[in-house]
Amino acid sequence: MPTKDDYIAAIDIGTTKVCTFIGAVKKNNILEIRGYGTSECNGIKKGIVVDINKATKSILNSVEMAEKSSKIFVDRAYIGITGKHISFINNWNEINLSSPNKIVKKADVDKLISIANKINISSQHSVIHTLIRQFAVDDEKGIMDPIGLSTNKLGVELLVIYGSATLIRNVVNSIKGANIEIEDIILEALASSEAVLTSEEKESGVILLDIGGGTTDVAIYKNKKMVFTYCLPVGGGLITNDISIGLNIPLIKAEEIKKKFANVDYNFYETLSRLNIGDVKIDRNKTALNIKLYSIVNSRVKELLNLVKEKIESYGYIYSVPCGVVITGGTSQLKGIIGLANSIFNMPVRMGVPIEVEGPSKAVADPIFSTAIGLLKYAFQIENFMDLSQFGEKKQRGTGIFYRFREFISKILKSEG
Ligand SMILES: Nc1ncnc2c1ncn2[C@@H]1O[C@H](COP(=O)(O)OP(=O)(O)OP(=O)(O)O)[C@@H](O)[C@H]1O
Ligand SMILES: [Mg+2]
Repeated sequence: MPTKDDYIAAIDIGTTKVCTFIGAVKKNNILEIRGYGTSECNGIKKGIVVDINKATKSILNSVEMAEKSSKIFVDRAYIGITGKHISFINNWNEINLSSPNKIVKKADVDKLISIANKINISSQHSVIHTLIRQFAVDDEKGIMDPIGLSTNKLGVELLVIYGSATLIRNVVNSIKGANIEIEDIILEALASSEAVLTSEEKESGVILLDIGGGTTDVAIYKNKKMVFTYCLPVGGGLITNDISIGLNIPLIKAEEIKKKFANVDYNFYETLSRLNIGDVKIDRNKTALNIKLYSIVNSRVKELLNLVKEKIESYGYIYSVPCGVVITGGTSQLKGIIGLANSIFNMPVRMGVPIEVEGPSKAVADPIFSTAIGLLKYAFQIENFMDLSQFGEKKQRGTGIFYRFREFISKILKSEG
């Protein structure tokens, strides 16, 4: 088998499935998926490991499937992380320029970033990313590239994303159990954004929603930088659950009905008459049952989208996103969700599937794989030092948070024997 050096592997551990993707970047800089595997996951819910043995087994299954389909051996991988334990702070730092002509050089920027990277965070937390938001020259904010500018003081604002050290450690251990070495851990909202957003959207301002089975991951971009992230621990699983309870049918049937018939827009409602749902009586017209299904799904999705909107409003970003909302993840396929989001957010909304990626159509055209594909895209940027403008921590391997995170992981691995 070819070794990993030419390829990168990424593992997305979702609430409903674990998937491993193996990719390589072609000469034209397009990511090509060489193989992938997906396995049902019962060991991790909403980003939290609830059963480490089951989690490790699902990871192993998906890795082995990906290896078989690509004939590439996987011993290392980039891993996605999410969960409501993840949070962020904005962190300002500044230095006085020492050079006589006071022109900012790359060395000044590197020095400032290395100082800014020494983040004071409680021992219960671990930093996942430090992303550059903006620079300031003599207190003039909004500078994206300060090199060559004249100033006495150079400042930088970092978006520091961190999470619970214990919960991250559990994810690390479930991967370690599968004998996979972790290259780096990447925020899932960041990965999904890499997969589905255009650079124009990131520049103008856009909200990304990855609505999966157990979580809704949110990222907001402005001036090409991530400025906000949030994980709501609610996803499509709750809709299925409500259908199951509301219609008094098994979860498996509720899931089937949701995917085939549920629609959050009553105008486009289909009759349930074609579907056998056990003992439930079905009328051919828009029946009481249809209305019930509609109201269950509509109210749950409305609630979810309103919770996200309120959160974004509370941070004041709702007016700075001319490109509107891009929805990806499995639940983006729920019928009518784009229209409903459009009326709730009162801005343009589109569905997001991975862009600039080639490979088997089942792997590259499905929004459930946005995170896995985005993990590969982000990983290639780290490995090749391409477009590093937003990575405060990843200018060079062996420095900054990239190094510290590896240290953090290796400490965990050592302490766990
Ligand atoms: N056609 C469809 N219509 C409605 N919902 C769908 C459809 N296809 C998939 N889903 C839902 O998408 C969800 C799975 O999405 P996804 O694979 O993105 O989640 P995940 O990554 O496993 O979980 P998470 O990221 O939330 O931890 C499930 O709730 C599933 O019911
Ligand atoms: Mg997911």
